[in-house]
Amino acid sequence: MTTTPAYVTTDFDAEGLNAKARDHLWMHFTRISSYADSSVPTIVRGDGAYIYDVNGKRYLDGLAGLFVVQAGHGRRELAEAAYRQAQDLAFFPLWSYAHPPAIELADRLAHYAPGDLNKVFFTTGGGEAVETAWKLAKQYFKLVGKPLKHKVISRSIAYHGTPQGALSITGIPAAKAMFEPLVPGAHKVPNTNFYRAPEHGDDLEAFGRWAADAIEQAIVFEGPDTVACVFLEPVQNSGGCFPPPPGYFQRVRDICDRHDVLLVSDEVICAFGRLGHMFGCDKFGYVPDMITCAKGLTSGYSPIGACIVSDRLAEPFWTGSDYFPHGYTFGGHPVSSAVAMANLDLFEREGLNQHVLDNEAAFRATLEKLNDLPIVGDVRGDGFFYGIEMVKDKATRETFDDNESERLLRGFLSKALFDAGLYCRADDRGDPVIQLSPPLIVGPAEFDEMEQILRSVLTEAWKRL
Ligand SMILES: Cc1ncc(COP(=O)(O)O)c(C=O)c1O
Repeated sequence: MTTTPAYVTTDFDAEGLNAKARDHLWMHFTRISSYADSSVPTIVRGDGAYIYDVNGKRYLDGLAGLFVVQAGHGRRELAEAAYRQAQDLAFFPLWSYAHPPAIELADRLAHYAPGDLNKVFFTTGGGEAVETAWKLAKQYFKLVGKPLKHKVISRSIAYHGTPQGALSITGIPAAKAMFEPLVPGAHKVPNTNFYRAPEHGDDLEAFGRWAADAIEQAIVFEGPDTVACVFLEPVQNSGGCFPPPPGYFQRVRDICDRHDVLLVSDEVICAFGRLGHMFGCDKFGYVPDMITCAKGLTSGYSPIGACIVSDRLAEPFWTGSDYFPHGYTFGGHPVSSAVAMANLDLFEREGLNQHVLDNEAAFRATLEKLNDLPIVGDVRGDGFFYGIEMVKDKATRETFDDNESERLLRGFLSKALFDAGLYCRADDRGDPVIQLSPPLIVGPAEFDEMEQILRSVLTEAWKRL
């Protein structure tokens, strides 16, 4: 039994809020009409790994908000860091000026980042970081005398954000259709979904070579003189957590070097402990040319994103008179930068990365117990980042048709899991999956709680099919 601290607001007008939400709040990626006959789920506070709705009901936060709240909810020291910074200097831009929190954070990120990734361009979120990386790649090649290099290669079903450049890089046709034509020059290659490997389904390393070689084929097909960069997540989120096969990133790194193509590691989800390291590329032993990150950098206590860039790429901008005509009013916001510093202090003091490494095997083992359910086809992921793919037929791996998917995911699963006390995500941007990405402070007790709720709801879902 936890007690609510005195400083937390608890008296909300649930009905009034619901009416206002329905009338005025445009929720993101949300079919608004789905709340015509039910209330909008409204979360009022968080504490550790748990969140509470407006009626006081408690839920295990199985998604860390949205792959964000690494340090857990209700961390007063992060709120206090924001308060202190807002008193000293609430706002100043990084447009030709600097302030201590952004300077210190850039220095710290440069020290954490691998190789010669020593320059930090701040944004306010992940999509802007992706946008920044692509624009920077284009300008870099213009400055070094390769002006045709502008195209980008990314993987099918991967999500890289919603600005129109980042959306071009995104590999989810349904997310793009309404906004075409998007920025031209973005090409897709297969992802590393081994469960649905079209080739080498019995040999993970051969599959990894095949998937990496598909990147080289795309570069050659488009013309190496026209390709600027490849965007890859260390573990691809969309589609339900596709880890890289052994050797995949090493082969991609070689391919990129051979064709003078930049490798961008999109770590908007995978950085800051999600895989037990500051950066996901560290886990898989590769050094990219740029890292894009956001979300967990502040554990969500204030928004910020960053594009971390190698010295080699920054060189033409650091010397001579050329500059990068790009920026955001709120990029590297002083309050967010100060919160990020406090969050990273907390990471070090509490050993959050090591905690993930110490517990990732137990998390996997607990989730893998679900493999005995007929609806569970595959449990996959890394660190504290998992996808559970649901199938109609375990033996043939047959998936659900659109109607079944609609009934299963939107009609039943998301709500049933939430009603049962687990906030997570049922997603069908690829094949239907449940995604889990809890705060990094959880351990075996919360793993068991997730497994038990999933077991009962998935058993019920199977009966309803
Ligand atoms: C890999 C990746 N890139 C980019 C983004 C976009 O980040 P944001 O929503 O902060 O713009 C996301 C968001 O989930 C992401 O997962």
